[in-house]
Amino acid sequence: MKNNIKKAWWDEMIKNHENIVGLDAAILMNPKVWQASGHLTAGFADELVECKKCHHRFRKDFLEKSEEDNESSSLPSVKECPDCGGGLTPPQKFNLMMKTFVGSVEDKASETYLRAETCQGIYMNFENVLNSMRLKIPFGIAQIGKAFRNEINPKDFIYRTREFEQMEMQWFCYPKDADKFFDYWKTERMKWYLNLGIKKENLRFREVVKEELAHYAKRAVDIEYNFPFGWKEIEGIHNRGDWDLSNHSKHSGQDIKYFDDETKEKYYPYIIETSVGADRSFLTFLTDAYQEIEGARTKTTKAAKEVETVLRLDKKIAPIKLAVLPLVKNKPELVKKAKEVFELLKPHFMCSYDEVDSIGRRYRRQDEVGTPLAITIDFETLEKNDVTLRDRDTMKQERVKIEDLVKVIKEKLNVL
Ligand code: GAP
Repeated sequence: MKNNIKKAWWDEMIKNHENIVGLDAAILMNPKVWQASGHLTAGFADELVECKKCHHRFRKDFLEKSEEDNESSSLPSVKECPDCGGGLTPPQKFNLMMKTFVGSVEDKASETYLRAETCQGIYMNFENVLNSMRLKIPFGIAQIGKAFRNEINPKDFIYRTREFEQMEMQWFCYPKDADKFFDYWKTERMKWYLNLGIKKENLRFREVVKEELAHYAKRAVDIEYNFPFGWKEIEGIHNRGDWDLSNHSKHSGQDIKYFDDETKEKYYPYIIETSVGADRSFLTFLTDAYQEIEGARTKTTKAAKEVETVLRLDKKIAPIKLAVLPLVKNKPELVKKAKEVFELLKPHFMCSYDEVDSIGRRYRRQDEVGTPLAITIDFETLEKNDVTLRDRDTMKQERVKIEDLVKVIKEKLNVL
């Protein structure tokens, strides 16, 4: 499922835009990169408070936020530990970079950092990519890869972790066009979620206020999702101005300004960034697709009184596209035919073969993991060489000739 999310993003950003190219940069870079980017010096730190009694540590802004969200509740004030009511220490700055060593000696000279955002690798390769791909402004460089942050409070399942994957696109443009492209990418990124089936009412934009802006950002808008634990950021659209390229230029002593052949102008392009976590997207798609149906949709089985779970994932995102199910497992001729059908479909689609339990149970198991289509091989199949094809959402069944299956399923999954 995560691979499908990453592919959907890659297809949208790179395949659908002839002026965006893909890159896979290094995780470990010269530590000077992080000096220049401001991650070691400026604002890439959270304020940490510690409970004097139980020694639990918290991000100060998290305590303040939970205060705001629960105005009417009886949460202790920010001066008290929410776990035990103990007193808190004054806030201290805590840098989020993950430190490591390169080479065989663990000394100051061999210290470096795991990347905290993938985009710095894009800036390091900016000139190389620009020249080798013969790009002209405006253009984009996109990348998917791991990022690491020494988060004080990893929490909410996979929402906030110390190791995560980012899907980032950096759009290099003429400074005067930055506002126009900011609006363009803001709209485009919202469309991506909607086109992949996320419910409109669960998504919103939030303009990041000045005091909350990251050290590199001139302007930022978050796309937020309505999780069971509240509205939270899933993606950021940032106008980074010329912060990154000008600072890398200054620190490295290398002029990486862009030269416009036509106007003969030399300048630092402005960067509009779209940045989303692959893991956070995963949690978003999973949460939004999950549905419990009281009293069940399947009235014919024993299970009718139970709560039925359906994962209404978009077909592109669903991890298994198709289940192949013999009607019963104790008829060797049905099992043999079902395995033949499975072998026929396996090279084309991510399939699952299942013969255990009643057919009703098996449909429900597939609904629970979001499989959009299920094929049943029954006694009619042996006579007519056709199967039933069942749709997860409508539960409608139709008969399809085995020889037409690949074509029909491709049409239904929209993978023509
Ligand atoms: N290059 C810009 C940047 O990194 P960010 O707002 O710090 O901006 C962008 O992070 C996205 O990366 C977030 O919207 C989120 O989806 C993901 N992300 C950031 N920190 C994360 C964490 N600790 N765990 C999981 N995902 C995280």
